[in-house]
Amino acid sequence: MIFRQLLDKTSCTYTYFLADSKTKDAVLIDPVNTNIDIYLSLLKQGNYQLKYSIETHVHADHVTASGLLREKTGAQTAIGFFCGTESADHQLHDGDLFEFGEKEHISVIATPGHTPGSCSFFWRDRIFTGDALFIGGCGRTDFQGGDPGQLYDSVTQRLFTLPDETLVYPGHDYKGNWVSSIIQERTTNPRLAGKTRDEFIEIMDQLDLPTPKLIDIAVPANRYCGIEEEEALQIAATETDRIDPRQERRGVQGAINNAKEQIQQIDLETANQWLESGETVLLDVREIAEFNAGHIEKAIHIPRGDVKSKIEISPETNDKSAQYLLYCASGNRSALAALTMQNLGYTKVASLIGGYVAWRRNVTLF
Ligand SMILES: [Fe+2]
Repeated sequence: MIFRQLLDKTSCTYTYFLADSKTKDAVLIDPVNTNIDIYLSLLKQGNYQLKYSIETHVHADHVTASGLLREKTGAQTAIGFFCGTESADHQLHDGDLFEFGEKEHISVIATPGHTPGSCSFFWRDRIFTGDALFIGGCGRTDFQGGDPGQLYDSVTQRLFTLPDETLVYPGHDYKGNWVSSIIQERTTNPRLAGKTRDEFIEIMDQLDLPTPKLIDIAVPANRYCGIEEEEALQIAATETDRIDPRQERRGVQGAINNAKEQIQQIDLETANQWLESGETVLLDVREIAEFNAGHIEKAIHIPRGDVKSKIEISPETNDKSAQYLLYCASGNRSALAALTMQNLGYTKVASLIGGYVAWRRNVTLF
């Protein structure tokens, strides 16, 4: 069995390469888009076939290479169900298994808290913890739907209950550490060792960290497996003729087409009638930077990727029988979000055709 731990020096991200020397199956965990050539040459050198490209969560500090790897190698992408990345091939739940090689398997352990969809991956004698647990630390919980109480429960109840000697391979390290163990973290991690849940929440609430530089680029892109929405749609459009029909539903365009077939889409005129009635909840599902740059009056903001985890608990959006109108920039993300809501039991959901761009054009004209 081949195992490599690769460091992206720009974001201090660890990527893990696992491969079976006999069958040539390979798996990558948390690949970074700028290192795509390194991964492709690793695969080529050993004549490996990438089977899965797996994410521990939607990253805020770097863009994933998963979408590119899927395009270039045919690998299947996978990420936690609550990450809001419908275009990934596999939506992971606690207890799911990846099988590769002769008899290798990676089991999925849901470890929410850093983000609602964060997962850790257990393979042989080691656990890949993403940003749930670092060596002597843990991922932050102050954005992307983070929740310190939930992170404490994930780490103490799920990770710290693994065998003591389990090796801990984190998603990042900023101090030059490479590997730790469960007993080492349980007994010496300054944020968690001997701390109560309340003490941990207090520590996390007082961190006061700066916003990651890449967050406005990385989070929206990573929700499309690391490809910008426009770019992803262009790739899908140009490749439609030559992709295997079985893969028609794969990728970004597949997910969007599928959503549009299943939800109600309305034009601007109907949207205005709905809004004038005063009974429609208007929901902006773009990212925060787009919302802050301008939005339709009275719109509530929930980014598409957070709809699954937030919509039912927000008092403004928890009524499943109310009427909702969703918009994004052009009508693609809002179609995905509308389907998410529909699947959660919301009965009157529609997506605005043309999105904010069409609405702005209309406002300017009149
Ligand atoms: Fe993260």
